[in-house]
Amino acid sequence: MKYGHFDDLNKEYVITNPQTPFPWINYLGNEDFFGLVSNTAGGYAFYKDAKFRRLTRYRYNNVPMDNGGRYFYIKDEDTIWSPGWKPVKTPLDKYECRHGLSYSKIMGAKNGIKAESTFFIPLKTWAEVHHVKLTNEGKQPKKLKFFSFMEWCLWNAEDDQNNLQRNLNTGEVEIEGSTIYHKTEYKERRNHYAFYSVNTPINGFDTDRESFVGLYNELSEPQAVLNGKPGNSEAHGWSPIASHYIEVELQPGESKDLIFVLGYVENPEEEKWESKGIINKKPALAIQEKFNTLEKVEAALADLKTYWEDLLSIINIESKDDKLNRMVNIWNQYQCMVTFNMSRSASFFEVGIGRGMGFRDSNQDLIGFVHQIPERARERIIDIASTQFPDGGCYHQYQPLTKRGNDAVGGGFNDDPLWLILGVVSYIKETGDFSILDEMVPFDNDESLAKTLFDHLTVSFNHVVNNLGPNGLPLIGRADWNDCLNLNCFSTNPNESFQTTENNTEGSKAESVMIAGLFVVYGTDYVELCNRIGKNKEANRALLEVNRMTDAVKANGWDGEWFLRAYDYYGKKVGSKDNEEGKIFIESQGWCTMAGIGSEDGLCEKALDSVKEHLDCDYGIVLNNPPFSKYVLEYGEISTYPAGYKENAGIFCHNNPWIMIGETRLGRGERAWEYYQKISPAYLEEISDLHRTEPYVYAQMIAGKDAYLPGEAKNSWLSGTAAWNFYAVTQYILGIRPEYEGLKIDPCLPSSIQEYVFVRKFRGATYKIKIVNGEKGKGVKSLIVNSESVKGDVIPLQKVDVEHQVEVELF
Ligand code: GLC
Ligand code: GLC
Repeated sequence: MKYGHFDDLNKEYVITNPQTPFPWINYLGNEDFFGLVSNTAGGYAFYKDAKFRRLTRYRYNNVPMDNGGRYFYIKDEDTIWSPGWKPVKTPLDKYECRHGLSYSKIMGAKNGIKAESTFFIPLKTWAEVHHVKLTNEGKQPKKLKFFSFMEWCLWNAEDDQNNLQRNLNTGEVEIEGSTIYHKTEYKERRNHYAFYSVNTPINGFDTDRESFVGLYNELSEPQAVLNGKPGNSEAHGWSPIASHYIEVELQPGESKDLIFVLGYVENPEEEKWESKGIINKKPALAIQEKFNTLEKVEAALADLKTYWEDLLSIINIESKDDKLNRMVNIWNQYQCMVTFNMSRSASFFEVGIGRGMGFRDSNQDLIGFVHQIPERARERIIDIASTQFPDGGCYHQYQPLTKRGNDAVGGGFNDDPLWLILGVVSYIKETGDFSILDEMVPFDNDESLAKTLFDHLTVSFNHVVNNLGPNGLPLIGRADWNDCLNLNCFSTNPNESFQTTENNTEGSKAESVMIAGLFVVYGTDYVELCNRIGKNKEANRALLEVNRMTDAVKANGWDGEWFLRAYDYYGKKVGSKDNEEGKIFIESQGWCTMAGIGSEDGLCEKALDSVKEHLDCDYGIVLNNPPFSKYVLEYGEISTYPAGYKENAGIFCHNNPWIMIGETRLGRGERAWEYYQKISPAYLEEISDLHRTEPYVYAQMIAGKDAYLPGEAKNSWLSGTAAWNFYAVTQYILGIRPEYEGLKIDPCLPSSIQEYVFVRKFRGATYKIKIVNGEKGKGVKSLIVNSESVKGDVIPLQKVDVEHQVEVELF
């Protein structure tokens, strides 16, 4: 069953039933100031850091679901309703939510009144605009009582929910004109406040939650709205809110526009006060002034649209498959940008107070957005590399506000260093900017330890070489990519985290075949990079190590029908036919086949056939099988999950593309394509009931074949899934891949894709590449650039600022 449809022309998903199987959300904001908004106007806003500068309050995992947001109440005679259906839930005559690129429009209509609300954050602005257009579509004049409502968060979102003995005393507000200012703790220690304004005179207000809602009422039935009268309350402690009360009269056919602005201000020390105890409101008034008319708001929204048109014009395809087009052209790229902005901090599954930025996550995210914002990718690479240790190891996470490594989590995840090579190589291939390698980059944020970024890559490479185990394979440390395969953890205490618990690596024989594959892939990239910049000796040294690793995998990492996953603490095989559970894992099949290990002996083909046989199911490829049914002390968190969920045989959509890419290496386009379609959200729209999360973005996980309800997704939006699927489909299935010297053409297609046009802006020029499939779906038969035939499969760099016509025929 569907709950809406795609509107590709407007780049929107249109939800037509407010009761989606889970809140279907969107993100507002592109820099500094952000908001999350659900299809019923739930969610919250924050400045830069979802934990430390949370502006509005939101209660996760609440009853009912999705509680708290930017709510409007309309009292029309005795009928009370909300344009977003929630929180009142009065059945609406019409409802529609359009989630677009950094904006959402929610429309509700009842008894002849239509309320259209548009939510967005204008570019370069620390504020959300909520534009509400009320229209009388009926035949009678109407007198409406209109209330806005939003609850302030006392800045630190974590403390806000637990330190009540303090927090119920601190709340402070000011009310001036039509603006409610939230100034809790604006004293010596804080220089920031928030405000919620409207561009019209108000007939009353509330700023104290109890006065507005009523102590024992729900948000669906606020006392003030029931009374049809605000309390004009001034909050002192307890829970400050912002609610405007506006009386609106509309003649038949008449409309009225209300423009609300929810903003954030930081004042310099000398300009904090207007008078004693009264905050300086000038900057707030300036923001309000920028968006106080319909024309200004429409212009700001148009600017936002242009911004996205530009970003999305860099990669664009035209094929006969609408689902493929909308994923590649719009939604997958959009999700990559959101993931860039949010990392793993704030979604409807990540509560915005927890995790910092992951070292490995951030490097992988980069491959999804580097073509759109290369300058910011460059900055991100330097930030990440600055948290590396001199021996090549890394802090597993760092904090975005301080950009420092996170001591609480520490290091010791031995895959981490290699992802930096992926990040840097992808950046250089996209931009041609080798100068990044010469940047001086600190270790552990200590400038006195700074070395060039290239040196960081060398220590990353060496970190693996210097940490090999008894089988010549990389020691795993706390965990590799799979955070839950904790082979050195031995945790018997249910109160500790597997990620931070003491790591028992001393004397351990635990080795990772996945890191081995990763090393062969990115080690080979490192070798190539060294050669390109004339470091041939280093390249030769590195190549020996890569070859040694390849041999070690062939000798000790092959199980007969597939690649082993690891060796445990005691040196016993993990992911082998000899194991009772967890006989086969996806990660090592993906990485070792991407690396081409043993391809000459058919190992890659065998491994991927085993994936098909043992791991594939209707909804995607599960992580491992059979799932673990009991807790295995020497494996850790993976065995704590019920069968079929998360890392225990869930479909982890992040790693499915590794298999897709592996399949393309073997030239098996049908299979790669089958796997792509199974998890790509646009293809799952029809089964939204089962899938539950948004049909326009990927979820991190879909319940696997061993789960209670296979096919049910969780954890949408913030996941490496976005970047990896985009990378797999554009660079390996559709096959347009940036290389140092140009664009490589290497599609691997199913027979259902006969032709398409791939438009790619690359290093200043535009390439309009028409691909025509052949019998095999792989291999370039002819390549014509601007009417001239080119040998090989790489489009050499062409003149900038011009569009170049490229025609490709495949075998
Ligand atoms: C989560 C983490 C990521 C990890 C993955 C598998 O997505 O963010 O770092 O690789 O889980 O455990
Ligand atoms: C849990 C999750 C895993 C995630 C990790 C991050 O272990 O299962 O996906 O990477 O937490 O801390």
